[in-house]
Amino acid sequence: MHVQHGSYRTVLVIPSAHLAIKVPRVRVREFVSNVRYHVRGFREGKGSWRVFWQYTFLKGVDTYCTGQRALFKGVVDNWREWRFWSETRHPVLAPTYGWFGISVQRTVDPIEIVAESFFARMLEIVGEDVFDDIHHFANPGNFGSLNGRLVAVDYASPGVQQLLLRCGEAIIRDFRG
Ligand SMILES: Nc1ncnc2c1ncn2[C@@H]1O[C@H](COP(=O)(O)OP(=O)(O)OP(=O)(O)O)[C@@H](O)[C@H]1O
Ligand SMILES: [Mg+2]
Repeated sequence: MHVQHGSYRTVLVIPSAHLAIKVPRVRVREFVSNVRYHVRGFREGKGSWRVFWQYTFLKGVDTYCTGQRALFKGVVDNWREWRFWSETRHPVLAPTYGWFGISVQRTVDPIEIVAESFFARMLEIVGEDVFDDIHHFANPGNFGSLNGRLVAVDYASPGVQQLLLRCGEAIIRDFRG
């Protein structure tokens, strides 16, 4: 068993059981530093209650620097992955077996490729849409190998989900490490 640290999930990988247990990270320090940022703004006469309120409580996990993102993105990402897998069962996805806040996914083998080459391969197969989420497609750790095909392990983002639906078959067919 080993542990991998993502930005919003800590993943316990248990290859012998074929299970990856994805535990949401609650980023309290990020939350506090976001609040401090706004408080500093007030002190310097630049802050507004409306912005403070929106960023701390109202704006959701997909907006950077929000309270919801710091505290709940991990749990929402786990739920989104489980729902997307349940609805599509697409072969370009690592199966997600359940969501209990924590989620349980099929383990994949890491792919041995440097980030630059991986991004270049994805650009060839998927096209310029990869620029919509460079962070995702520049990180081979968001994918892995399952029964000889490339599959995604990190597919919570709605943009990434649409792209995988559109190009999943091509990724499976054309990706060679
Ligand atoms: N099913 C899996 N099998 C094997 N390893 C996995 C699996 N799911 C995740 N991992 C490992 O855990 C790491 C973090 O997982 P994941 O990308 O899903 O979390 P994250 O919080 O969204 O991370 P980030 O935002 O940094 O991409 C991955 O880069 C990968 O190394
Ligand atoms: Mg990831």
